[in-house]
Amino acid sequence: MSTIILGVSGSVSVYKACDLASQLTQAGHSVHTVMTQRAAALVSPQLFEAVTSEAPYVDEFSESRRGAMDHIELARQAELFLVAPMTGDLAAKLALGIADDLLTTVSLAVAAGTPRLACPAMNPTMLAHPAVQRNLATLVEDGWEVMEPGTGHMACGEEGAGRLPEPAEILARAGELLG
Ligand SMILES: Cc1cc2nc3c(=O)[nH]c(=O)nc-3n(C[C@H](O)[C@H](O)[C@H](O)COP(=O)(O)O)c2cc1C
Repeated sequence: MSTIILGVSGSVSVYKACDLASQLTQAGHSVHTVMTQRAAALVSPQLFEAVTSEAPYVDEFSESRRGAMDHIELARQAELFLVAPMTGDLAAKLALGIADDLLTTVSLAVAAGTPRLACPAMNPTMLAHPAVQRNLATLVEDGWEVMEPGTGHMACGEEGAGRLPEPAEILARAGELLG
């Protein structure tokens, strides 16, 4: 099947990304997970290792490093670059081309033409913020597909848009993008 680089950032919905990683693996894909440090603080990378059979990469200088050029090696393998969940912070960095950790650096190194699917997840007020909307629009201009966040009850207690889409929906869209 296909090689997917799964970028995971520090949203409360990171627990759903474990299920997503599991479903992608069960569908036969090879999943390389790259977590931000904030994501790894919210959920143990061991959980992703358990469901993908590969320890996640966390940053360029941690013990998770495989080689000096992890960012290039990972980017070269990507048949799909999928970021789920994408925080408001990560959307801003990617929209600006900031590359100050492994995940953001891989993003710059992924070849043009590789499908990129972003799944933002955040509180409804954060999602509606002009800066966030501007950054998501920039990502679309840059060739990303941005999945519409789900609507409903949020972990913060609010109702509205900003939920990470269900893993099955993301899996289906990933499959379509991979053809
Ligand atoms: C428990 C918890 C849940 C959070 N959930 C979200 C979220 O759903 N979306 C978001 O954009 N930020 C969320 N944040 C804030 C981000 O973790 C914060 O902006 C962080 O700097 C993101 O770093 P990263 O993009 O490198 O992962 C949350 C923070 C905490 C402590």
